[in-house]
Amino acid sequence: MKRAPADGWLLRDAIPDTDAAACLDVYAPFIRDTSVSFEEIVPTIEKFRDRMRANIATHPWLVLVVDGQVVGYAYGSQHRSRASYRWATDVTVYVDPAHRGVGAGRRLYGALLERLRHQGFQVACAGITLPNDASVGLHRAMGFEAVGIYRRIGWKAGTWHDVMWMQLELVPPTDAAPPEPLRPSG
Ligand SMILES: CC(C)(COP(=O)(O)OP(=O)(O)OC[C@H]1O[C@@H](n2cnc3c(N)ncnc32)[C@H](O)[C@@H]1OP(=O)(O)O)[C@@H](O)C(=O)NCCC(=O)NCCS
Repeated sequence: MKRAPADGWLLRDAIPDTDAAACLDVYAPFIRDTSVSFEEIVPTIEKFRDRMRANIATHPWLVLVVDGQVVGYAYGSQHRSRASYRWATDVTVYVDPAHRGVGAGRRLYGALLERLRHQGFQVACAGITLPNDASVGLHRAMGFEAVGIYRRIGWKAGTWHDVMWMQLELVPPTDAAPPEPLRPSG
């Protein structure tokens, strides 16, 4: 658990029972009103809580709390299920509109990437529905590089969407066999 020294922000591991509702409050508008998320129906709180529980068994999920309120969250998740992909992790971040542009995304990702590195993941991947200048900007700012664009890969809100994939080497690349990723330590 870390407390930002100057501004009172609290960055901590998510607790599904406590934080599911607040995280879903941040996330739901992106399902309902945008193509940032390709989900089409807002999950129930119970389903979202179960999703968080399953996720934190293998990957970190962090929340940023300001004045007692979760204003953003970021998490890692399985990139793909085939065994050889297990050193790759997807990453996702959502910040409440009222708290954007003041470093929340950077703070969440800085801590998330450090945790993923510590667990032994080698590569972080982000799929970004285009256009999304803020997300592309944040990922570039964190060192991610664009690797390609899936064209017309998702249909939502009456139109096709492209998705840009960006990736970050979490550790210096080597050809040595990587150690198995660890479970989150919390
Ligand atoms: C993307 C998002 C998480 C960024 O969070 P944020 O807290 O506003 O970002 P920060 O203030 O930490 O900015 C960090 C960097 O991101 C970049 N950035 C942030 N907003 C940007 C914008 N609107 N345009 C371009 N770059 C931007 C900048 O490089 C910034 O670096 P700086 O602080 O040195 O200027 C936020 O806009 C968001 O929640 N968007 C909606 C959800 C979303 O798109 N999530 C990503 C899904 S792939």
